[in-house]
Amino acid sequence: MKFYQSKIKKAKSFLNKNYCIGVPTETVYGLAANAYKDSAIKKIFRLKKRPKNNPLIVHYLDIESLKKDCIINDDFMKLYKKISSGPITYILRLKKNSKISKLVTNKKKSLAVRFPKHLILKRLLKELDYPLAAPSANISTKLSAVNASHVKEEFGSKIKYILDGGKCAIGLESTIISLINKPTILRVGGMDISTLKKILGKKIFFNINPKKIFAPGQSPVHYSPGIPLKINSIEPEKDGAFLSIKKKKKLKNYFYLSLNNDLNEAAKNLYTCLRIIKNKGYKSIAVEKIPYKGLGRAINDRLHRAAKFKTLKS
Ligand code: TXA
Ligand code: MG
Repeated sequence: MKFYQSKIKKAKSFLNKNYCIGVPTETVYGLAANAYKDSAIKKIFRLKKRPKNNPLIVHYLDIESLKKDCIINDDFMKLYKKISSGPITYILRLKKNSKISKLVTNKKKSLAVRFPKHLILKRLLKELDYPLAAPSANISTKLSAVNASHVKEEFGSKIKYILDGGKCAIGLESTIISLINKPTILRVGGMDISTLKKILGKKIFFNINPKKIFAPGQSPVHYSPGIPLKINSIEPEKDGAFLSIKKKKKLKNYFYLSLNNDLNEAAKNLYTCLRIIKNKGYKSIAVEKIPYKGLGRAINDRLHRAAKFKTLKS
């Protein structure tokens, strides 16, 4: 960890000057900036080419630092005690006197908050006297970044610094749950829904239908490698690649997400495999059917949205 002290110092100095930097989390890399400063938040939206009405997640070290900005309720306390820090984002009511930049929330009365588990990011948050707004570190609608070189691929020299924390342990974005009224899942992700149900001890509702856009980031096309992608496939298309859940044929255009049907491993490799296939110049990606259990649910969600790219083009 000592090795990271100079990197954390550097990250802090850029953030204090209101720049955006790349930061690691256990889900995906974030494009981070001071959540209390309008000028810093403006840079996030500009760099990501993100519509201004799509609010950002704010990352806190712990509940103490959150209390100044949000109203805490019983459901939140139950979940926080058991599973934070971790791959879950809570939507809570903002306090009237919160210092969060209005640009973060698009003037909404709610705030998306997360307590990341990545040790290096935790160390950085401990050093700062403000929380970090950080959407995924990718251009809007494109693939999220799960290592520092992906962040570089997205933004090149447009960002001042990337805090390299290695490969993300989970590889898919956090699960988002709104706790403002009845607990409602807005995005499936790294945290298993059955765990949430068990802890809350009550019914959980869903609002993840891309047609009913509640969270603006839940747009139909998202997580796209930038080439057509077809789900539930059994073979590649002409000049295309095939992506399977386990190791299959030893052919140049065959890629696999895990050695043998391991969905956690598949989640971790998903975005990297899609990037590799795109960068090798294949014209399309045919993906094998992925089971809908555990992280398979979130993998399917991302693949369905990525597959919309083709519909748009044709
Ligand atoms: O794992 C993650 O969640 C990563 C890491 C970096 O923390 N972040 C991430 O951020 O995926 P982003 O911006 O790519 O996705 C956040 C989603 C967006 O769809 C946004 O619309 C939604 O959260 N969101 C943010 N604030 C919201 C709010 N107040 N109400 C409803 N949805 C909100
Ligand atoms: Mg994103």
